[in-house]
Amino acid sequence: MKTVSDLGDLRGKRVLVRSDLNVPLDGTTITDDGRVRASVPTIKALADAGARVIVTAHLGRPDGSPDQKYSLAPVAERLAELLGAPVLFANDTVGPEAHRITAALQDGQVAVLQNVRFNPGETSKDEPERGAFADELADLADVFVSDGFGVVHRKQASVYDIATRLPAAIGGLVEAEIGVLERLTIDPERPYTVVLGGSKVSDKLGVIDNLLDKADSLLIGGGMVFTFLKAQGHEVGKSLLEEDQLDIARGYIEQASAKGVQLVLPTDIVVAPEFDADSPATTVAADAMPDDQLGLDIGPDSAARFAEIIRASKTVFWNGPMGVFEMSAFAAGTKAVAQALTDVDGLSVVGGGDSAAAVRQLGFADSDFGHISTGGGASLEYLEGKTLPGLDILDHRDQQPLEGN
Ligand code: 3PG
Ligand code: MG
Repeated sequence: MKTVSDLGDLRGKRVLVRSDLNVPLDGTTITDDGRVRASVPTIKALADAGARVIVTAHLGRPDGSPDQKYSLAPVAERLAELLGAPVLFANDTVGPEAHRITAALQDGQVAVLQNVRFNPGETSKDEPERGAFADELADLADVFVSDGFGVVHRKQASVYDIATRLPAAIGGLVEAEIGVLERLTIDPERPYTVVLGGSKVSDKLGVIDNLLDKADSLLIGGGMVFTFLKAQGHEVGKSLLEEDQLDIARGYIEQASAKGVQLVLPTDIVVAPEFDADSPATTVAADAMPDDQLGLDIGPDSAARFAEIIRASKTVFWNGPMGVFEMSAFAAGTKAVAQALTDVDGLSVVGGGDSAAAVRQLGFADSDFGHISTGGGASLEYLEGKTLPGLDILDHRDQQPLEGN
């Protein structure tokens, strides 16, 4: 895949950069700016090279029309602080303001366009509609740089279609993320442990399937634990349960043992009567969960066992919290796993916006880990062996150079 250096001299060129600036907000306050920070080096390098940098990104999932709740304005402000330089902001994406601001950009200046998902064409399943919107985006620029790793698994106009309309390359963040994922997939140093959490089994099915052929140990926590426990014949009280995934979970337990993969489920669970920070928490055995309570974290014995396996590994990938870490009574499992990852003598990778926000909220520093990926869905799909449209299109066009590239 082409990288930025393959695009030649960018001085005076209008460079459209797709970044992933999808950060958690509390009103207009950014609660975790990790994705903005991760996007800065590429934007800064382009500006330093004299390019006129036009950043396009999404925030949340607006329904294809402007909704100020999802405005990128606070993100543009944060970007300016981190760059230490002014950042212009267009309150539309391809409208008159975007045209005016991008046309007036000077060499080395940076502009951010309003949330790309305010336009129905961005996420449309209708190729001509998406293509028409990609044409409008392409009109603003001379060159495209794909640097939003967290969205490369989306077949969307600013990720996919745009790459066939302008000379295109991947940015430094996407390059770095792919480098780490290759270390996880091509001959990982062993033992290789994968820790999966989060609420839905159905979200993680593909990756579990694929990892049963690759990992030495698979540790399961988070809300999906209860579907696995139930699949083993245990009662799970009022816990989250995906009935329609029971057979699949059972199948994984059998496959793991047939393949010699250590699939580790928690043996104790922190339960409470209600999903509430103040609900009284107790720890029970995983095979003796009371009817009137729900599981909200893995228990201390399980956390210690998970930590021990993680510390003895040479390669660890972790996606998804072990419990409801936002509530302190149910954060210990996630904290123990994060702590163990910081002790790994080898490669430790935290995957995903939510997991990254969790470790920061729990007081860990980015530098405590080998790598914190900015993409949860994207890194999981990569590990599943799926084709990621945003990368595939760039690979593909390198083999069939288009005019102007
Ligand atoms: C994310 O937050 O995972 C990425 O920014 C992608 O967002 P999406 O899941 O709404 O496409
Ligand atoms: Mg996400």
